[in-house]
Amino acid sequence: MKLQDIRNVAVLGAGIMGHGIAQVFAGGNFSVRLMDVDPGTLNKALDRIKQNLDLFLKKGLTTEKSAQATLSRIMTTTDLGEAVADAQFFVEVITENIDLKKDTFRKVDALCPHEIIMASNTSTIKIADIASATTRPENVIGTHWMLTPHIRPLVEIIPGEKTSLETRELTKALIISLGKVPIVADDMPGFIINRLQVGVFSQALKLLEQGISKEDIDRAWTHHLGLRYCLMGPIQAMDSMGLDTLYLACLYLAAVYNDPGLNPPNVVKEKFEAGEFGYKTGKGFYDYTGKSIDEIVAKQNEELINLMKTLDIKIC
Ligand SMILES: NC(=O)c1ccc[n+]([C@@H]2O[C@H](COP(=O)([O-])OP(=O)(O)OC[C@H]3O[C@@H](n4cnc5c(N)ncnc54)[C@H](O)[C@@H]3O)[C@@H](O)[C@H]2O)c1
Repeated sequence: MKLQDIRNVAVLGAGIMGHGIAQVFAGGNFSVRLMDVDPGTLNKALDRIKQNLDLFLKKGLTTEKSAQATLSRIMTTTDLGEAVADAQFFVEVITENIDLKKDTFRKVDALCPHEIIMASNTSTIKIADIASATTRPENVIGTHWMLTPHIRPLVEIIPGEKTSLETRELTKALIISLGKVPIVADDMPGFIINRLQVGVFSQALKLLEQGISKEDIDRAWTHHLGLRYCLMGPIQAMDSMGLDTLYLACLYLAAVYNDPGLNPPNVVKEKFEAGEFGYKTGKGFYDYTGKSIDEIVAKQNEELINLMKTLDIKIC
């Protein structure tokens, strides 16, 4: 199957995530069947999509005509067979219950003798486990959208152990065609986003238990870390602050807290020993050869000022 062969998309589950995902596909010119076992949820989903489009209209992100066209491309149904009958791609967005998900995949597999890519929006369940309910695990893949999917750009793509390269590349191309940004994660619980997020949550909760005020923990994010990580990811941030500093700081923390788990990971030790400290040596996790670090920093500072102005945070 090629990208242009995908015309009809089924979205199974119309709750918090499903309605927004349906909106994105419809906005991308796909004909969408939005299915849920609960007719009330389907009605609510259409109302929510209308509200989302009204906001887009207000913000100049769509036109009246385009919003109407998006809505007209979404059909709702409570019948699974009807939802997937003509679909070349479906995304399952139902309750996070492995038995329910496997049951849905098993049924779709039987209902669709034709070629179809089968995606799950699961946040935690192994894709290989879901795929095991079908006769064609090579067609099964994870597409983990972010709340709120009609606004947030990122979609994690998770190939299971038997997912074919064709399914992976086609799914990636489909996500890109919707204007979204794909990242490819391993099929292990938490994928990329939630593993990063759990690290932040667990440290925030430790600080809270230690007696630091919740307001100060949140302010540490809204007035510093959130701004930094809006403009760059953690790997580049480590390059910018200096991998030598990071290495020595980890050694110190491991010693004072008497916690070997805080020792610098091998990947940092190797960079330290190779003298690759990041921005300051022109090479760290990234290679800046041929680039001006001063220009990179000046551009980041300008972006930071723009961001702080947008957020109405005082610069002084
Ligand atoms: N809420 C989030 O922030 C978020 C973010 C990313 C991924 N997810 C994942 O998306 C999936 C859905 O989450 P949600 O937050 O939209 O849940 P939700 O409870 O809002 O929606 C789930 C919908 O599935 C429907 N449903 C249940 N069984 C069904 C079946 N057999 N066939 C068709 N519809 C069925 C329910 O009626 C409900 O409307 C979960 O796997 C969740 O882990 C959620």
